[in-house]
Amino acid sequence: MGNYLLNNGLDRNIESSEDEKIVEEFYENVWPEFVRWWCTEETLGLHYAFYEDGIRTFKEAILNMNDFVGRLLGSEEKELGNILDAGCGVGGTSIYLANKYPNSTITGITITPGQIKLAKKFAQERNVNNVKFMLSSYANIELPDNYFDGVFGLESACYAKNISDFIDEMYRLLKPKGRLVVIDGFRKDDIPLNPVMQKIYEGVCKNRGYAHPPSLNTYTSHLKEKGFTGIIIRDISKNVSRSQLRSFLIGIPFFISTSFKRLKFGKYKLTEDFVDYSFGTSVPAAIVGLSGVAGYYAIIAIKK
Ligand SMILES: C[S@@+](CC[C@H](N)C(=O)[O-])C[C@H]1O[C@@H](n2cnc3c(N)ncnc32)[C@H](O)[C@@H]1O
Repeated sequence: MGNYLLNNGLDRNIESSEDEKIVEEFYENVWPEFVRWWCTEETLGLHYAFYEDGIRTFKEAILNMNDFVGRLLGSEEKELGNILDAGCGVGGTSIYLANKYPNSTITGITITPGQIKLAKKFAQERNVNNVKFMLSSYANIELPDNYFDGVFGLESACYAKNISDFIDEMYRLLKPKGRLVVIDGFRKDDIPLNPVMQKIYEGVCKNRGYAHPPSLNTYTSHLKEKGFTGIIIRDISKNVSRSQLRSFLIGIPFFISTSFKRLKFGKYKLTEDFVDYSFGTSVPAAIVGLSGVAGYYAIIAIKK
């Protein structure tokens, strides 16, 4: 796996906030486990697998999520145009879409330096030239207004501490009539949780690199306030449930081992055990999913 290890040695050209540094550290640390458990070497995808008619294997379903993003961005018009992948991981979806739509240009950004290095390498190895990658936070991108025909965030917008920072920046970058597509986990409502569920929920978010998933209502209210129209919400929880089950099963041994360590050594912080700990979080995450507190959605919005 030597070739696939992340390298933190990139020159930094962005100043990350404390929260963003936690996300960076999380993704630098969990990458080797993703390679081991999530077929990532083949698909480059750090997202749930999207099952629908005709899709059978896990790998097909991971790649099908990329096709789904393309459809939501308006691929019925044959080409996508100038597209931003806001939170691109190691470039899986960007490279896939660039390859599928050779007359489009895809720009992938992430705050995790090692991911940029890998994304560039993977694009080069696959001879995909209409894709580029930049180290940048999606809260502040050094590109002009009205630049992109479409923007998407695949399991990335949940890391914005203030979701309005993400929405404002996407609005600024989109051309009029451009589409914003966000696919992610959302709270179903803002009703306070009972104390036990609140604790489980906070633990799951924390161990997934300090995610802050907004509720559907909070997210769509911000979209409307900003001036987005044509908002469509698709509940795709069922389409991803098989990959959630996979994640749960993978998480069981990690959950058991970290629970024992916790009993033995007490509460511990971000150490080398953190990776086990975050993979073990798939077990309580399943409780959150089954309890109906959160769901998995695709939300499309159009800039006026
Ligand atoms: C679950 S991964 C998804 C990656 C990719 N979309 C995929 O599906 O393979 C979340 C990604 O969001 C990125 N991210 C989180 N916060 C970000 C921010 N403020 N700006 C840019 N990227 C961010 C992380 O670095 C990571 O690449």
